Amino acid sequence: MNDKEVALVTGAGQGIGLATVKRLVADGFHVVMVDRNPEPLAKAAAQLRAASNSVEHHALSITDRPAVAALVAALPRIDVLVNNAAIFWDGLFDAMTEDDFKKMYEVNVIGTFIVSQEAAKVMQRGARIINVASRAYLAGYAHSAYITSKAGTVGLTRGMAIDLAERGIMVNAIAPGLIETDMFRSLTPERQQELIAKQPTKTVGQPEDIANGIAFFADPRSRNVTGQILALDGGRSMGISLY
Ligand SMILES: NC(=O)c1ccc[n+]([C@@H]2O[C@H](COP(=O)([O-])OP(=O)(O)OC[C@H]3O[C@@H](n4cnc5c(N)ncnc54)[C@H](O)[C@@H]3O)[C@@H](O)[C@H]2O)c1
Repeated sequence: MNDKEVALVTGAGQGIGLATVKRLVADGFHVVMVDRNPEPLAKAAAQLRAASNSVEHHALSITDRPAVAALVAALPRIDVLVNNAAIFWDGLFDAMTEDDFKKMYEVNVIGTFIVSQEAAKVMQRGARIINVASRAYLAGYAHSAYITSKAGTVGLTRGMAIDLAERGIMVNAIAPGLIETDMFRSLTPERQQELIAKQPTKTVGQPEDIANGIAFFADPRSRNVTGQILALDGGRSMGISLY
């Protein structure tokens, strides 16, 4: 690890999280990979370690505060935290169960809160927290639980940005649009096509597109940026064709 800056990335076993790990390793960070799904996490970490010793991995859920606290205590420092782990499913409001609604909030908002609070305890002036929200926080069809959770992520970002500013900790969020990962592939092919057709660009983004935005906020030169929500969404947040 030596004197490298340390970045902790949650949901690091696949998709946007894994692309972010690769980008931050390339940018010179030592990256701590966290995911609740042990096998894909270990496999991804082993592949990365074949090329670089700048990664380590820990299988835990971001909702497990004692496990998160133990990990934070075991790390020498945390310069960057990327709160990327989240869950998603489609579901119409009328059919949504209270349990499903709570589950999404528990992971996407409370999990982000737990990891941020534990990491902030050890963060020094100049540290950066990046939350992965979603363009969907604005609106979207059959997404009420997800919208609520991602609006919560945006609210938490802004609240943390204010409260941590005097300690010199910068907090920002990315709001991705459609990105080609398992999360997007969990939609039916018809729904995928329907959503792509509503994109101003008529395209679906790649995980690396989001990693690029995260890398901007993770860069120590972004030291004067806080409380911002960067939409990387093929233009959908301009407000056209939301449904
Ligand atoms: N793919 C998209 O179209 C899209 C769009 C907007 C926002 N996002 C957001 O981007 C982020 C990454 O999404 P993705 O598409 O790569 O998803 P993904 O489902 O491919 O990966 C999510 C990862 O998070 C992990 N995870 C889930 N719950 C966890 C928990 N409790 N503790 C630890 N790890 C957990 C999963 O095991 C998985 O490895 C999420 O915050 C998601 O909401 C994705």
